[in-house]
Amino acid sequence: MRILLVGSGGREHTLAWKLRQSAHCDALYAAPGNAGIAQLAECVPIAPKAIPELVAFATQNAIDFVVVGPESPLIAGLADALQEAGIPCFGPTRAAAQLEGSKAFAKQVLAQVNAPTAPFAVFDDPDAAQAYLRERFLDRPCVVKADGEALGKGVFVCDTLGDALDAVEFLMVERGLGEAGRRIVIEDRLHGREMSLLCLTDGHIALPMPPVRDYKRALDGDRGPNTGGMGCYTPLPDATPALIEAAMHTIVRPVIDEMARRATPYRGVLYAGLMVQEEQPYTLEFNCRFGDPEAQVLMPLLAGDLVELMVATVEGRLHETALRFSPRAAVCLVLASGGYPSEYRTGLPIEGLEQASQRTDVLIFHAGTRYEDGRLVTGGGRVLNVVGLGDTLAQARANAYSAAQQIHFEGMYYRNDIAQ
Ligand code: AMP
Ligand code: GLY
Repeated sequence: MRILLVGSGGREHTLAWKLRQSAHCDALYAAPGNAGIAQLAECVPIAPKAIPELVAFATQNAIDFVVVGPESPLIAGLADALQEAGIPCFGPTRAAAQLEGSKAFAKQVLAQVNAPTAPFAVFDDPDAAQAYLRERFLDRPCVVKADGEALGKGVFVCDTLGDALDAVEFLMVERGLGEAGRRIVIEDRLHGREMSLLCLTDGHIALPMPPVRDYKRALDGDRGPNTGGMGCYTPLPDATPALIEAAMHTIVRPVIDEMARRATPYRGVLYAGLMVQEEQPYTLEFNCRFGDPEAQVLMPLLAGDLVELMVATVEGRLHETALRFSPRAAVCLVLASGGYPSEYRTGLPIEGLEQASQRTDVLIFHAGTRYEDGRLVTGGGRVLNVVGLGDTLAQARANAYSAAQQIHFEGMYYRNDIAQ
């Protein structure tokens, strides 16, 4: 098969690495890719959201199958456009991707199937939202969320009424995140342990992957600003089979059945962001794609052929397959540019990558990297992902940190407490 992979981050490098191992992958293209992906695929300079250009490229180059990494193109309808052109695509349609594209939509689906999630209300009007806050959250924490796509910046966990009123002002009145804040969701704040439960689903059945814990804050001890993700690990000692089954039974399967009932079946990866409170899973959010960096720990542990699994997903034949993972552990560290997630420099030379990648039980996936005059340099906020594997979490962790210590670029930083 001739495969086109859409995206350019660490998640996509990891998917490219796994797709390349498939017996069915005869040619791999990436749009637009990065310096790491370029070692595995032919990169073409088309942006992930350039839907007509992607469809034209796929048609002209006899692409048999498209794999979409990020959410934006899916929410914008890339899978639909490819389907119309007769090209199968791994990733949900625009209607199904609304589970990530609209937080109000996701909450309404959750409410309809009585899936556990925080009590909520949806507002199109700032005065009504602020009146609701004054009535219900006078002395209780809440969470204010922009309804639309906000690249992880649209969620405000508020300790005080003042913070919550400010968040409404910022989103709805100042339109600090543009159209994303036209509508908002206000919900009760939950407390507990978070976990990412990614499932493969063909619209009929859903197969869970091992839960992952990711670290969103920039600094050790969960301090500092929110980021796209600074690291993660799997397996989770606290994710019991009973807990996973509860999440599948009360959240994932009912939501998938509801999407099918609405004639907008969900096919692809359904990523449920969960809060475990008193050993019960609650839904915080859905994503319509692999997590980044969750993919970086899941793909190295996935046994079997990713192309076969993805094609079975698209064709509604997941019941014919099994989703198997190695019982080993994986820890991913994100090496970030100094200043990220705010301003940072790019074009800084990266040293030590070759030695680090030769280590046993270490995999390195590129995120923001590029070649400049034949030299590998930084090209983004999250630069590299160092994945350590091991028979235990402690071993995987030690492998990841030893490798990270061999890599250097000016201003590089990473968290020291991943999987501690
Ligand atoms: P999201 O962008 O929807 O993934 O939300 C970002 C983060 O906000 C989540 O990973 C949680 O840490 C936090 N969060 C979202 N909703 C809630 C909630 N109801 N209670 C507590 N924390 C929440
Ligand atoms: N790691 C969180 C995400 O991919 O949304």
